[in-house]
Amino acid sequence: MATGDGHGYITVFDTKSWSIESDFKAALKGPIWALAFSKDGELLHAGGIEDIVYSWPVEDLGAFDPMAQETPQFLRKPEEMTNGERQFARKCSICHALSPDGGRKAGPTLHAVFGRRAGALPDYPYSETLTGSDIVWNEETIDQLFLDGPDHFIPGSKMPMQVIARPQDRIDLVDYLKSATAGQETNGETQ
Ligand code: HEC
Repeated sequence: MATGDGHGYITVFDTKSWSIESDFKAALKGPIWALAFSKDGELLHAGGIEDIVYSWPVEDLGAFDPMAQETPQFLRKPEEMTNGERQFARKCSICHALSPDGGRKAGPTLHAVFGRRAGALPDYPYSETLTGSDIVWNEETIDQLFLDGPDHFIPGSKMPMQVIARPQDRIDLVDYLKSATAGQETNGETQ
């Protein structure tokens, strides 16, 4: 039997002798949200605040690597970020990745989004609203998207309602996105 706690510890018990077999800090940050043994009982799977599941061989829990050590962007300290990055971390990063692979998020990756037609990523299940749209994402259209809110700018989209009221917040967000989403062929000087 295994238990996980709010401080990231996993404890494994031998249910014959009711003794503790191992007790280790598996998540360096945050709680253990989910725990399961594999069907054959050989692996212990665990989930914490990262968006992936970790697995360890039950026989060898002493020699494990703990879960990811990077702090997810949405938990970073606000004062360590520019206003644009803070906007993204608070309002977008839960659903959007910036990396080419896109992670496993509810929304499509925003990697190389500038100059891209809406709904154009082959592997993402867009709504028909986005695939049928002729919007091209750039400074103006992304600004407009959050001036009006997705429900007005692209009615019928799966993206939830959200307006960013302060013009400076939208300018900073777009500036941040321009550098953070730049494709490899650019050198950060894209417009
Ligand atoms: C709760 C989840 C969620 C949040 C938060 C969110 N989005 Fe989205 N976003 C989506 C989804 C889902 C789609 C795909 C919509 C569709 O297919 O209709 C999307 C689509 C997009 C697109 C179009 C991408 C493309 O390939 O056409 C852009 C640009 C975008 N979001 C930017 C943002 C920005 C910037 C923020 C933060 C200010 C944000 N989103 C916040 C879920 C989210």
